Amino acid sequence: MNDILFRHNRPDRAVTLDEYRAEGGFQALQKALADLSPDAVQQTVIDSGLRGRGGAGFPTGKKWSFVPRNLPGPRYLICNCDEMEPGTYKDRVLLERNPYLLVEGMALACYALGVERAFIFIRRGYELAAQNLKGAIAQAHKAGFLGSAICGSTFNLELDVHQSAGRYICGEETALMNALEGIRANPRSKPPFPAVKGLWGQPTVVNNVETLSNIPAIVAHGPAWFKALAATPEGAGTKLFCVSGHVQKPLCLELPIGTTLGEIIDTHCGGMRAGSTFKACIPGGASTPYFTRDHRTVPLDFDPVAKAGSRLGTGGVVVFDQTTCMVAATLNLVRFFARESCGWCTPCREGLPFVQHILERIEAGRGEMADMDILREHVHKLNYAFCALAPGAMGPVEGLLRLFEDEVREHITGGKCPLGN
Ligand code: NAI
Repeated sequence: MNDILFRHNRPDRAVTLDEYRAEGGFQALQKALADLSPDAVQQTVIDSGLRGRGGAGFPTGKKWSFVPRNLPGPRYLICNCDEMEPGTYKDRVLLERNPYLLVEGMALACYALGVERAFIFIRRGYELAAQNLKGAIAQAHKAGFLGSAICGSTFNLELDVHQSAGRYICGEETALMNALEGIRANPRSKPPFPAVKGLWGQPTVVNNVETLSNIPAIVAHGPAWFKALAATPEGAGTKLFCVSGHVQKPLCLELPIGTTLGEIIDTHCGGMRAGSTFKACIPGGASTPYFTRDHRTVPLDFDPVAKAGSRLGTGGVVVFDQTTCMVAATLNLVRFFARESCGWCTPCREGLPFVQHILERIEAGRGEMADMDILREHVHKLNYAFCALAPGAMGPVEGLLRLFEDEVREHITGGKCPLGN
C-alpha cells in the first residue's frame, strides 16, 4: 500500500524539515514552480478525482475552478482545521506527525489559485498541532519555501495560524470566516459560496487539512497514480480513518479509500474487544447515520456509503457493541449538537433541545408511541435549518428510527431501557 499522508511518519515525534526533504518533501512545489503553470496544477487536481476530506466530499479541483480570476483585490485560501466532529481526530494526528505536508500542499494550492496570503484555522485545544505547524512555517520560511520569491520564482506566500476560540460552529466555513474577521461566528447564507465571495468579501477557497495534504503527492506522481490508490474503480486516493469505540485497537490509519468497514475492524483494529460483538457504528463522524452488521462489506467511499444510506463524512468510525443502547447513543450525540447550536436560526436553536427532550423521555421509559412520529417530523423539518449543523444532528436520529425502530419501540412499550440504562 502506498502511504501518502503517513509516509514520512516517525513513531514518537513529528518529522523534521531535513527528514521530509530527504524523502522527497517540497520537490512537488519545486517542480510546479519550475515547470507547471497555475492552471496546469489546478487541472492535475481536477483530473485526480480528489474529493474534500472535511466531510462533504465536494470535488476539490472543481471548487478551485469556481474562483473568479479577473476580480480586483486578493483571493484567499483557508485551511479548515477546526476539527470538532465527535469521533474525528485525523487532522490532529496529521499535524502532530507531519505539518510540512500541509505547508507544501497549501503552497501548491495557493500557487494554483493565485493566493498570496492564506490562513490555517485550528481548533482550540490542538496545542501540539498548532505548535508544530507554527514551527514548520518558520522552518519553511527559512528554507525559502514560504515568503517572497519562493524557490527563485515570482510566487509569494504568507501563512497565518489562527487558533479558534473553540465552538463547533466555527468549523462551518462561513462562520469560520466571520470568526477570522472578528465578528460573531454565525453562518452566512450560501450562495454566494466562499469561492466567489468569502473572507472580507473576496474569493476564498476553504479546504480541509487532509485534502490539502494530498496535493503534493498528486502533483508529484500524477492523477492516474492517485486514482489507482483507491480500493474501488470509481474512487481516488487514500483516506484517513480514525476508529474508536469497542474495538481491540482504536487508531487512526491510512488506507485505500473504499476499504470495507469489516476489513478496517477485523484486519486493522484487531477485531472487537473480548466479549464484544459488533452491533453498529457511526461510519463518518457524529453527523452520519448508523451502519449495522449488514453494512460491513460496504466500501467506505463517498458514493457507496451514500448509496447504503449514510455518509463517508470525515471517516471517523465509532464502533458500538451489543451493550450499547442506540437511544442513549443518539441522545448523547444530539445533546452535543444542541449545546453547540449557535442559536442563529430558530429550527436549530429550538428544534435540537426539543429532539433532545423527546429522546431523554424515551430513554427514561416515559416515551409515547407518538414520539416516534414527532422525531420523524423533526428529521424532515430540521433539514430546513440555516446551515448543516441541524441536518447533521438529525443523521443519527434518522438512522435510529430506520435501523433500530424495534429498540426504540421496546423502550416505549416496556417503560424502561431494555439494556438496563
Ligand atoms: P456543503 O456540501 O454545503 O459544501 C461543501 C463545500 O463545497 C463547501 O466548501 C462549499 O462552499 C462548496 N460548494 C458546494 N457547492 C458549491 C457551488 N455551487 N459553488 C461553489 N462552491 C460550492 O457542505 P459543508 O457545509 O461545507 O460541510 C458539511 C460537512 O462538514 C458535513 O457533511 C460534515 O460531515 C462535515 N463536518 C466536519 C467537521 C469536522 O470536524 N471535520 C465538523 C462538522 C461537520
